Amino acid sequence: MKPSLITLIIVIFSLRACAQKQEKATPEIDVGGNCEGCEAIFESPVPFNELNWIDTLPGFDEPGQKLAISGSVFKLDGKTPAAGIVLYVYHTNQKGIYPNKGDENGWGKRHGYLRGWIKTNNSGQYKFYTLIPASYPNSNNPKHIHITIKEPGKNAYWIDDFLFGDDPLLTRELRNKNNFRGGNGILSTSHQKGIMIAKRDIILGENIPGYPKE
Ligand SMILES: [Fe+2]
Repeated sequence: MKPSLITLIIVIFSLRACAQKQEKATPEIDVGGNCEGCEAIFESPVPFNELNWIDTLPGFDEPGQKLAISGSVFKLDGKTPAAGIVLYVYHTNQKGIYPNKGDENGWGKRHGYLRGWIKTNNSGQYKFYTLIPASYPNSNNPKHIHITIKEPGKNAYWIDDFLFGDDPLLTRELRNKNNFRGGNGILSTSHQKGIMIAKRDIILGENIPGYPKE
């Protein structure tokens, strides 16, 4: 007996639904330990597949020292460029606080609006423009830019903050406490046409607990 057209359609749709379910059910490898707020990376206003490898964070035209950070993201071997890696960065304003505009939702309430999302290009490169943040008010905490990473097949995890090598608050003691998660986050900066520029290459999985040796 020949199956009817309706039966065939039902079978095809059932198989597709099953395949999609399996795709979603593929477990991610849990790396990097606890990370409060890493899920903020999923608050990107643009879907991951539409992210650019260059971003300018909100507030770039406000008063302050303009900064451009760029670099390449490599796989654990430190040589192979890693394409399609999503980076989420956020930092304080010129007063050292994570500023709100009042309409933030989710982690935006704590991380403020000075945040951005970037996805590495086919050569593993990324770049973002922002202002140099200030350190927290009345604290000895060096100025810093937080960064979270999402790569396919792994949960989101944090790597070392971007720190500034010329920051007097970045003491020898603090430098020695550096985790070097994802490589060294301490930036050397130079000036170029009024913009401070810095480079940081990132090595996925470097000093990240639970990261598989590929
Ligand atoms: Fe912070």
